Amino acid sequence: MKDALSSIKPVVRQLHAYTLKHFEARVKINQNENPFDLPDSVKSAVHKAMEGRAWCRYPPFVPTELAAKLARFAGWRSDGVLVGNGSNELIEAVLMVTVEPGKRVAIPQPTFTLYQLLVGILGGEVLPVALTENLDFDVPRLASAAAQADVTLLCCPNNPTGSNLRLDEIREILKAARGLVVVDEAYHEFSRQTAVPLLAEFEHLVVLRTFSKAMAMAGLRVGYLLGHPEMVEQIAKAKLPYNLNVFSMAAAEAAVEQFSLLQPQIEVLIRERERLLAELRQTPGVTAYASQANFIAFKTRHAAAQVFEALYSHGILVRDVSRYPMLDRFLRVTVGLPQENDQFLDALRSFLAAAH
Ligand SMILES: Cc1ncc(COP(=O)(O)O)c(C=O)c1O
Repeated sequence: MKDALSSIKPVVRQLHAYTLKHFEARVKINQNENPFDLPDSVKSAVHKAMEGRAWCRYPPFVPTELAAKLARFAGWRSDGVLVGNGSNELIEAVLMVTVEPGKRVAIPQPTFTLYQLLVGILGGEVLPVALTENLDFDVPRLASAAAQADVTLLCCPNNPTGSNLRLDEIREILKAARGLVVVDEAYHEFSRQTAVPLLAEFEHLVVLRTFSKAMAMAGLRVGYLLGHPEMVEQIAKAKLPYNLNVFSMAAAEAAVEQFSLLQPQIEVLIRERERLLAELRQTPGVTAYASQANFIAFKTRHAAAQVFEALYSHGILVRDVSRYPMLDRFLRVTVGLPQENDQFLDALRSFLAAAH
C-alpha cells in the first residue's frame, strides 16, 4: 500500500508538534494563567447574557460591538481590530497571509515556539536572532534581521524568558524593518507597557493581545489583533468565519467592562513576581532572571527534568523549558497565588538542600 502519509508535506513531517503533557497538580504554575480566576460578577454578567440569547443562532459575522469595546479599551480604532479564537489563531492568520516558500521571518530565540512551527508548516524560512547571554533582546541584530525579513515577530515581554523591549527599541526595529512587524503582547499587562501608541506612526505594525493571561480567561479562547484597517482587512481573510463563539464574546465584553476588578489582581501578581524573584535570587544554587511578565525563568546546576520531578512530587507543576535554545537546565515558573509561590519556594529549597 502507498504510504498514506506521503500526502503530508515533507516540511510538516519533519516538524515537532506544539504539545504540552497533561499533569494534574495541586499547585498549577506552568501555563502563565491568572490564578485568581475571573471575578464572580464578570461570570454572572456572562451567565445573564447567555440566558437571554438564542443558542441556536450563529454569532454575528463581524463582532462589531466587541471590536468597538476592545478599541476603546486598547486606545485604537474599531475598524483596526480583529478578534480571534485565542491569539494563537491570529498568529496563524498573520502568518498564513504573509509566509510562503521564499519568505523570511525574523524570530528572536528562544521565544514562543508556535511562531517557528507555523512558519515551518507554511514553508517559510526562519531568521533566528539569539538573545544575549543575559537573555535580553539583541536590538542591533534584530534590527538588521528585520531589514532582511518579510515578517518580524517580537514577543514583548518574551515567553519564556520575561525579557522585554522598550518602546524606543521597538521603534528602532520598526524603522529598520523591510516587512510586517508583529508585536505579541500576551503579557503586556504585567509590564505596564504597550506598543499600541506606535500604531499611529507605523502602518507595518500589528499588535496581538490575549484574554488568556492577565484577563483570566484562558478557558474561553479570546485574543485580538490591532492594526491599520487595510492590513486588518487582509489578515481577516485567513481567519475562519464565526471563529469566536457567543459565550466567549459575552465574556470578553464583560471582562473589559469590569476591568477595574481585574486590575488589583494584576497589581498583586506584579508584586508577587518581584517577591518571587528576590526569593529565588537569595536561594543558593538558583540563577533567576528578571521578568516583565507573570513568570520567571530560572536555572539550577541540576537537570531540569530532575527539578521538575522533585517539584511535581510536592504537587507543584512548573514548565521545563530546557529544550529551548540557550535554556539548558532552565525551568519557567508562573507567578501564582502568594501561598502557591511559598509552596513552590519551599519545595525547590528542600530539593536543592537534599541534592547537595
Ligand atoms: C507569547 C504568547 N502568545 C500567544 C499565546 C497564546 O495565547 P492564546 O491563549 O490567546 O491563544 C501564548 C500562550 O502561552 C503566549 O505565551
